[in-house]
Amino acid sequence: MRQSEPDRHIGALTRRDALVAAAGVASAAMLAPGPGLAAARPIPFGSAAQIETFRADPRYRQALTSYCDVIVPMNDLKWEAIRHDRSRFDFSGADELVAFAERSGKSLRGHALLWGEALPPWAKEISTRAEAERELVQHIETVVDRYKGRIATWDVVNEVIKFEPLPGEPMRDTIWQRLLGPAHVEIAFRTAARIDPKARLVLNDFNFEEPGPGPAARRKIALDLCRRLKDKGIPVHGIGLQAHLYADKPLDIDGLQGFMVELGKLDLDVEITELDVIDWKLPADTATRDRAAASLVGTFLDAIVSVRRPKAIVTWGLSDRYSWVHETFPRKDGARARPLPLDADFRPKPMMAVLDRYRRSQS
Ligand code: XIL
Repeated sequence: MRQSEPDRHIGALTRRDALVAAAGVASAAMLAPGPGLAAARPIPFGSAAQIETFRADPRYRQALTSYCDVIVPMNDLKWEAIRHDRSRFDFSGADELVAFAERSGKSLRGHALLWGEALPPWAKEISTRAEAERELVQHIETVVDRYKGRIATWDVVNEVIKFEPLPGEPMRDTIWQRLLGPAHVEIAFRTAARIDPKARLVLNDFNFEEPGPGPAARRKIALDLCRRLKDKGIPVHGIGLQAHLYADKPLDIDGLQGFMVELGKLDLDVEITELDVIDWKLPADTATRDRAAASLVGTFLDAIVSVRRPKAIVTWGLSDRYSWVHETFPRKDGARARPLPLDADFRPKPMMAVLDRYRRSQS
């Protein structure tokens, strides 16, 4: 049989997954897990929710209600959303999503207390160490206190690791790193823990899953950062794998599994925090893309779950109707991206069948 298009693109999938994709089989049965996977112990499933879409589209609200155990305000807890001006906090968007989660019995993840992006203009002008520390601490105190006991888990720091780390240069160049040095991570975790000692505190970052020295260095840096926090008695409970998976790039299964082993040694949880599939380099045919995305997600999750059971699996959106992938990774042929488990009409795709192996809520 000639190698099919998806096989060439999906790289390091297992032979079984590649055969499933090549055979053109989209059924849930064919994508079902092998023996020993975690179906017996369901994993909370959730999605990041956009407030604008939440307000505008009842079908979107219904999908969140039906499918999710966990809700993450996608943008409404970012500095940009809360801190239009320096002296006032605006929690309107986050409050609405938090209230929805609470009345529908869902748990919440907070995203994110510290990030080098999504800062309002005034914050980008912060210019001294003292000012940076004062603003950072005050921000985290105020936000964590407002949702104390309600937002169970926080992405305390987001994307603090350099994209391609160099020896001796582990940290990403952000305003926090420039003004506070690597201590910004410690300040953030220490402050969050002081305000809500019961919250689960997570270091969230991307690209832990591709082969090569860059991602390997990123995994090591994440572990080192957490180890250092623990050595100082500062609580850190887990590492969040964003998992924006590129459908055209292979996965480093051994690297991921070794990472899970090391997390275990440090008594850290793993969470999948922003799962979606970037399909910009795949062929246009939608069935082909959906199969490849489902296979990739299955291979990724199986690799992790077989070593360490995630505390949650969260997708970055729920329906292809609404996703950042459309704008950030546009396809050359102009076709819509298909990154998520529901299609643009809220019908489950093969990716949802893969997630169903792990999910607790069944719609
Ligand atoms: C993205 C949102 O999905 C977009 O709506 C927004 O315009 C930009 O940010 N990594 C992260 C997320 O940690 O916060 C980003 O979310 C996607 C990449």
